Amino acid sequence: MNDSSLNISIEDVTKSYGDFHALKEVSLEVTSGEFLTLLGPSGSGKTTLLMVLAGFTSPDYGSVKFGEKEVVFEPPHLRGIGMVFQNYALFPHMNVAENVGYPQKLRGVSKEETRISVENALSTVKLDELGHRRIDELSGGQKQRVALARAIVFKPKILLMDEPLSALDKKLREEMQIELRQLHDSLSMTTVYVTHDQKEALTMSDRIAVINDGQLMQLGTPNEIYRRPNNAFIADFIGESTLLPAKVKNGIATVGAAKFKGTQRLKKDGDFMLVVRPEKLFIANRRARDANYFEGVVKDSIFQGESQLMVIKLDPQNYGDRSLRIRLPNGSTNLGELPGVDEKIVLGLKIVDSYFVEATNGGA
Ligand SMILES: Nc1ncnc2c1ncn2[C@@H]1O[C@H](COP(=O)(O)OP(=O)(O)OP(=O)(O)O)[C@@H](O)[C@H]1O
Ligand SMILES: [Mg+2]
Repeated sequence: MNDSSLNISIEDVTKSYGDFHALKEVSLEVTSGEFLTLLGPSGSGKTTLLMVLAGFTSPDYGSVKFGEKEVVFEPPHLRGIGMVFQNYALFPHMNVAENVGYPQKLRGVSKEETRISVENALSTVKLDELGHRRIDELSGGQKQRVALARAIVFKPKILLMDEPLSALDKKLREEMQIELRQLHDSLSMTTVYVTHDQKEALTMSDRIAVINDGQLMQLGTPNEIYRRPNNAFIADFIGESTLLPAKVKNGIATVGAAKFKGTQRLKKDGDFMLVVRPEKLFIANRRARDANYFEGVVKDSIFQGESQLMVIKLDPQNYGDRSLRIRLPNGSTNLGELPGVDEKIVLGLKIVDSYFVEATNGGA
C-alpha cells in the first residue's frame, strides 16, 4: 500500500453497441500500486474497458470505484487519472514542455508550479534537455516519453495506458517495457496497461487479466497464467504450445499412444487437451516411469541463435497429422548428436510438466 495510489474495483461492467456485447459483466479488482495488464486479441474489449475506467465511455450498467469512491458518473477530468494512448496524441503546435504542462494549465496550476512539475516529469522520463524541441523533431521513443511525462505531470494516483509501445520497433519496445516497469515501481501508481502482445504482458505485469470476447477469462500472475491456463484459448494464446486431444476416464488421460496418470486431478471424464510447451519436451534416450513418451520423425531442425527448434511429426497412426515442437537451448546441446531431418526420435514429457485443459469444442 502506498498513499500515492488507489485500488480500483470493477464490478459487473457491461457495455453493448446495439446488440453487440463489447463487455459482459466484467468484475475485477486492481490492487493499490499494482501493475495490471489487460491482455486479449484484437476486438476483445480491452480499450472499451480502459475507456470505461477513464470515463470516456459509460457502461450500460456496473460499478467502477477508485478507492471507496464510485466514479461511474464522474467526468474524465475529475477522475484524477493519467492516460497514455497508442498514437501519442501530442499537440504538434506546442513544444515538448508545453505539451507536458498542458494538463497543469487545464487545472489552473500557477506558471511557476507548472514549470517545476514539467521539469520533474521530463527528468523522470529522461528528456531533461528537450523541453524546447518541437514534436516533429523527436523520434518515436522520445514522443512516447513526452506522452508519458504528460500523463504523470500532476502525479496521478492511477495511470492508464493503451498499447503505448505499439508504434515502436521491437528493440526499442523491449527497452521501453523495462523502463516503464521501473518507472511504475518508482512512482507506485496503480497502473492498468493494455496490450495484445502476450510477451509484453508476461514481461511487465504483476498480474494479467486475460480478456476474450468481452469477458474476463483468467486473472493471475504471469507465472500462473503461463503454467496453469484456465482453458484451451489461454493455453494457445499465451506462449508457444501444441494442444493434443486427450480422453479422460477415471482420472487417466489417454493421449494417442500415451496414458497419463496422476498429473493433475482430472475429476471429470470427457474430452481434454494436453498443453505441450516446446521447452518442456526432451529427447528421450531411455524411458523412465516419471515421464510419458511420443514417437515421431524429425521434419525440421532450425538454428535460432540461442536455441535449436525442431519440428517432430508424430506417428500418424496415433496422432493423425499432428506435430510437436521442441526447443533445446544451444548452450546445453551438442548439435552433432541431435537426430537429423527424417530420422526417428522419441520425445519425453515429464509427468510434472503435463497439464490438461478442458476441450472447449468437444475435442478434436
Ligand atoms: N463506438 C463503437 N461502436 C460500435 N462498436 C464498437 C465501438 N467501440 C468498440 N466497438 C466494438 O467493440 C469491440 C471491442 O472493441 P475494443 O476497441 O475494446 O477492442 P480491443 O480489445 O481494444 O481491440 P484492439 O486490440 O484491436 O485495440 C470491437 O468488436 C469493436 O468493433
Ligand atoms: Mg484497443
